[in-house]
Amino acid sequence: MNWVTICYLNDIQPGFAIHVEHNGRPLTVVRDRVDEGKAYIYNDACPHAGASMAGGEANSDHCFVCPLHKWEFDLDTGRCPDNDDIVWPSHPTRVTEAGEIQLGK
Ligand code: FES
Repeated sequence: MNWVTICYLNDIQPGFAIHVEHNGRPLTVVRDRVDEGKAYIYNDACPHAGASMAGGEANSDHCFVCPLHKWEFDLDTGRCPDNDDIVWPSHPTRVTEAGEIQLGK
């Protein structure tokens, strides 16, 4: 797998996210609230009604909450705990020792 740096841990407050455009593709990058060295890359659009997830926030159940209608998505699986059929699409992610958040292709 090839890895490309799209942002840095220091760009994101723990438990929050930022919007990143990569090759014209809108993405939301989340920094874990508990394990501050962990990050997740998702599509930017919420699978419910397309809101940008970058304005959301992680909760204490290890879910990320959409800012528009407050649907929750598990950070490890992208699945909505209230409906397993609804998935927020994720992308391969790793964080380097230097704090680079990288997207795998
Ligand atoms: S657009 Fe995200 S919960 Fe409705």
